[in-house]
Amino acid sequence: MRSVTAPNRPVETQADLSAEIESIETAADHTTPQPLLDYPPYRSSILRHPTKDPRHADPETIELWAPCFGHTDVDPLEADLTIAGSNEPIGERITVSGRVLDGEGRPVRNQLVEIWQANSAGRYIHKHEQHPAPLDPNFTGVGRCITDAEGRYRFQTIKPGPYPWGNHVNAWRPAHIHFSLFGRAFTQRLITQMYFPSDPLFALDPIYQSITSQKDRDALVATYDHDLSVPGFSMGYEWDIVLTGPSRTWTEPEEGDL
Ligand SMILES: [Fe+2]
Repeated sequence: MRSVTAPNRPVETQADLSAEIESIETAADHTTPQPLLDYPPYRSSILRHPTKDPRHADPETIELWAPCFGHTDVDPLEADLTIAGSNEPIGERITVSGRVLDGEGRPVRNQLVEIWQANSAGRYIHKHEQHPAPLDPNFTGVGRCITDAEGRYRFQTIKPGPYPWGNHVNAWRPAHIHFSLFGRAFTQRLITQMYFPSDPLFALDPIYQSITSQKDRDALVATYDHDLSVPGFSMGYEWDIVLTGPSRTWTEPEEGDL
């Protein structure tokens, strides 16, 4: 969460924001594959989006060393976010799994996948995050794993709750899990968010709405997968991440919200 409330800014309601979102939605080119960087309804993006076109850098002058992680560097237990405390965290247990793929559908193996998320009450452990929802002493909200030979990752966690943020009055983020992938060089790190199906907040959320292509929005929403659900224990969600090509998963600048 990032608060953008300015002292002299007029009070803005969800209705104000929704009207702005709708007018941009009407005018937008819905084939644009990336989000609109200058997307005024997402208030803090106004100040931090790039104002100049990207420049090609000479590959010889940038960091070429790749982060290398092997299966011995990351403990398999780090993929289970439900075991950090002495008791189980509160919330709906879920398994989130999927494959990291290149543009041709080939698995991307041995990739570090990191996630961070709010707890079931919509609260992060973060100094800037002070809304009155409880912290869970048994849930830190962070995990990581390495993709296997099929490019597959798998996390055991609890379903995050929606949370309020400072974009406007009564602004709430749809429930989501943040994902980071380091890729094959330090300059390739990608960050994105996975959402849950049928969230009623999609239409109201200026971050989700800053992506104008419905196909790209849909690609950020996990699919409920009954085969991933564990009988009597947890619900399963499947979500693939595509790194390149026309089906590439939408990613955001590193300075995104929490
Ligand atoms: Fe978040």
